[in-house]
Amino acid sequence: MSEIKSTHLIHHPYQAPKEFESPQAPLFKASTVIFPNVKAMKDRRWQNKSAYTYGLHGTPSTFTLEEKLATLEGGKYCTLMPSGLSALAHVNLAFLISGDHVLVPDNAYSPNISLLKHLMSNYDITFTRYDPMSMADFKAKLSKRTRVVWLEAAGSVTMEFPDVLGLCEATQAHNAAYVHKDRRPSLIALDNTWGAGLAFDAFKLGVDMTVHALTKYPSGGGDVLMGSVVCKDHGIAQALCNAHMFLGTGVGPHDVDAILKGLQSMVLRYEAQDKAARILAQALMQEDAVAEVLHPALPHARGHAHWKAVCVTPQRPEGLAAGIFSVVFKSEYSVDQVEAFCDRLKLFKIGYSWGGPMSLVLPYDITSMREFAAEHLRNRQVVRFCIGLEDTQDLLDDLRQSLKALGSERLL
Ligand SMILES: Cc1ncc(COP(=O)(O)O)c(C=O)c1O
Repeated sequence: MSEIKSTHLIHHPYQAPKEFESPQAPLFKASTVIFPNVKAMKDRRWQNKSAYTYGLHGTPSTFTLEEKLATLEGGKYCTLMPSGLSALAHVNLAFLISGDHVLVPDNAYSPNISLLKHLMSNYDITFTRYDPMSMADFKAKLSKRTRVVWLEAAGSVTMEFPDVLGLCEATQAHNAAYVHKDRRPSLIALDNTWGAGLAFDAFKLGVDMTVHALTKYPSGGGDVLMGSVVCKDHGIAQALCNAHMFLGTGVGPHDVDAILKGLQSMVLRYEAQDKAARILAQALMQEDAVAEVLHPALPHARGHAHWKAVCVTPQRPEGLAAGIFSVVFKSEYSVDQVEAFCDRLKLFKIGYSWGGPMSLVLPYDITSMREFAAEHLRNRQVVRFCIGLEDTQDLLDDLRQSLKALGSERLL
C-alpha cells in the first residue's frame, strides 16, 4: 500500500473478519462495483442479477431485500423502486405500448389514475375505470387491446374488497378466448400494499404482478419511501428489470437498510394495528354522527364475503386486515364541521400515508374522486383513519373528545 496520504486514504485493505456476526446484515453501498479483471467486467450481466456490475443494478443489500419481498409475497422475482407510485408507474411503462388499453378500478390509488390520464395518454395509451364490485362491468370493459388490468384489494379510501379470484379468472378466460399470434395477453397487476403479503396470497389468486408501497408497513416508520414489483414469470421480471435500468430508478442504501429492519417487526405491527383498527371501527359504528364505517372485515362491508374468502383461514379464523378504515359522516354534517373534527384530534395527526407508528386522519371529497359514486357516499363527508401503534384507549379518548365538540351524542 502506498505511503502517500492521498492514495492511502482511498485504498483500504479492510475485509470484515469471518468471526464477526451481528443480528443485522451488513449494509453494502455502491455506485461503482470493482471487478477483479477486465474479463469479469465483460462477462458479468446486470440483466439476470447473477452478478454485481453497478450500484444501480444491485448490491448484496438490494438483492437481500428483493429476495425477502419475493418470498413474502409468494413470487419469485422482485425489483425495487424509489416509491410505491414509482413501482406502479414502472408496470405501466414496462408493458404498455402505443395503442394499448388499461383497466383500472374506480377506487384505485388515485395517482395511478392520474398517471394514466395525464402522462400515458401522451403515448396513445387509453384507460377505462371499472366498478370493482361489478363483474359484469369489468367483463364488458375488457377489450382485445387491454394489456394491463389493475386490481386493488381493498380499494383506496372506500375499502371495497373485490372478487380478486373472479377478476383474475375473467381476465384469463378473456386471454384464452383471444389467443392470436400477434396479440399480447392482458397482464394482471395488483396493488398489494393493503395486504402487504400478509393478509392474503395474491399469486394463488392468479395475479401476474404485485406492487407494494414499502413506504407503508414494511418501513413502519413513516420516514422512508420505497416500492417494489414482485412477479413469478421470468419474461415479466426481465421487462421490469429493463424498465428499471432504462429509467435509472435506483434506491438509496440507507433506505434499503431501513426497510430490511422494518420487515423484521412487520408481522407483529400489522397484527397489532389490525386489532386496534377493528376496535376503533366497531366503536365508531355505534356513534350517532356516523352513517357508516368502511372496513372490509365488518359484516356489512361491500365485499366482506370476498375479504372473508381470501383473508380468513382455519389457522386465522378472525382473518387479517390492514389497520386502516374510513368513516362516512351523516349527511347533516358539513365539510366545515368534519374538517374541524379532524383538526381537534390530538393524537391522530393530519397527514398522508399509513402503516407508520403514528395514527393519521384525512378528510376526503370522495364524490369528486369517483366515477361510480355509490349512493352511501353521496353528499357525505368521508374521513380515513390510519391506526398507528399508540395505546388503543388513548386513541378512543381522542376520538371521543373531538366527537363531543361535534355534538355527536353517543360518544363511544
Ligand atoms: C394503495 C397505495 N398504493 C401505492 C401508494 C404509493 O406509495 P408511495 O407513497 O410510496 O409512493 C400508496 C400511498 O399512499 C397507496 O396508498
